[in-house]
Amino acid sequence: MQAKKVIIASDHAGCSLKEQLISYLEDKGYTVYNYGTNDPNTPVDYPQKAFYVAKALNRYEAPFAILICGTGIGMSIAVNRYDFIRGALVCSPETARLARAHNNANVLILGGRVTDADTAKQCADIFLTTAFEGGRHTARVNQLEKMPHDF
Ligand code: RB5
Repeated sequence: MQAKKVIIASDHAGCSLKEQLISYLEDKGYTVYNYGTNDPNTPVDYPQKAFYVAKALNRYEAPFAILICGTGIGMSIAVNRYDFIRGALVCSPETARLARAHNNANVLILGGRVTDADTAKQCADIFLTTAFEGGRHTARVNQLEKMPHDF
């Protein structure tokens, strides 16, 4: 069985939800690598956090990561700039499940100002334990790293 490890980071707007998720996941036996921010009162730019998380994923610190900003939108735009990242902005347990099952997402993205803590915990649980279905989804996911640029 794969070790239960997860990378996590947020900006100031996602900090409170991040802290709640860290406690929740640690109680469930996960090793959580926290890349901050740990201060909700000092603004932090979300692209910087997305970069650190991409870097940690790139060196296989953990198989999955969680990123949180106010809406999840900024983190989503930022982290998906890296072609080995499949970041999914999720708002419900069902979208968390489908992000793994159909999209083989490796980053769960949440909005700290728009998603309540209980929903976020359920999303994290499901995301971290759902397998990619493969099959018809494999060819589609494989295309993502080879998106054409011949505009
Ligand atoms: C910060 O105020 C906010 O803009 C940020 O957390 C995020 O929602 C951006 O997409």
